Amino acid sequence: MAELDEGVAAVWQSVVNGDAQWLADQILKFNMTKEAVLAKINEAPRDIKHLAFQAILKNRTFHGGILAEGATFLKHGENGKGIQSRWYPATLAKRFINLNLVANRIEFRCEDGLQVMQEFSPQPDLIYFIDPPYTAGGKKAGKRLYKYCELDHEELFRICESLQGSFVITYDGAEEVKQMARRSGFEMKLITMTTTHHAAMKELVIGRNLSWMDDAPVIGEKAENYAITKKRKTKKLP
Ligand SMILES: C[S@@+](CC[C@H](N)C(=O)[O-])C[C@H]1O[C@@H](n2cnc3c(N)ncnc32)[C@H](O)[C@@H]1O
Repeated sequence: MAELDEGVAAVWQSVVNGDAQWLADQILKFNMTKEAVLAKINEAPRDIKHLAFQAILKNRTFHGGILAEGATFLKHGENGKGIQSRWYPATLAKRFINLNLVANRIEFRCEDGLQVMQEFSPQPDLIYFIDPPYTAGGKKAGKRLYKYCELDHEELFRICESLQGSFVITYDGAEEVKQMARRSGFEMKLITMTTTHHAAMKELVIGRNLSWMDDAPVIGEKAENYAITKKRKTKKLP
C-alpha cells in the first residue's frame, strides 16, 4: 500500500508495526468530547502510533472525515449528535483488531504511488488497486478532501499502460477521465457508490479488461461533442 498523507500513513504503518491492538484500546477508553479531542490532537505526537490515533480522532470528528488543512469539527453530524455522531468505538476497535489478523501480509510505504507502481511494473503476477484523488479536469472535491490532491492524471494513465500486471482504477465520472481512459484503450464501467452524505453517486471503474464486472452497465459512449448555444433568458416569477 502506498499513501502520501502523513496521518493516514501513520494509521497503516501502526497496523503493520503491530500496534492495531494499542489503537483499539485507545479508541475504547477515549472519552469523546470536543475538549478531549482538541487536547489530544494538539499534543506533539510521541511516535507513529500516537500520530495515528490523532488522525483517527480527526477523521471521526471533522466534517466528512477530512484531514486536509482547514477542516472543521462536525457541528450537527448524524442525527444532530455533533462530535459524537461518527464515533462508534466498539465497531472501530473491532476493525483494528481484525486488521491485526492480516497485518503481516501488508507492506506499507508512505511514498508516491506512481513511483511504487513503476518499480513493480515489469512484474506480470500483480494486480494494482488505484484510488486516486478526484481532481482530474479541475474537480474541486479532491482538492477540498485531501492534503495531497495534486496528481498528474495523464502520467497515471501512462504508467497503467506500461504495467505488465492487471489494475483497477476507481475515479469520478468526469469527461476528462473518460477521455484519458479512451486514449489508453481501457474499459470503463459505472458503479453506484455512497458518499459520506449517504447520497448515491456514480463512480467509474477503469481497467484493461472488466469482463469480471459484467453485471455493471458498460460506459462505451463516444466523446461528447458539446455545442455552445445562447443562454436562454428565464422569465422571473411574479
Ligand atoms: C480517493 S482517496 C483514497 C482513499 C482510500 N482508498 C480509502 O478507501 O480510504 C485518495 C488518496 O490518495 C492519496 N494520494 C494522493 N496522491 C498520492 C500519491 N502520489 N501517492 C500515494 N497516495 C497519494 C491522498 O492522500 C488520498 O488519501
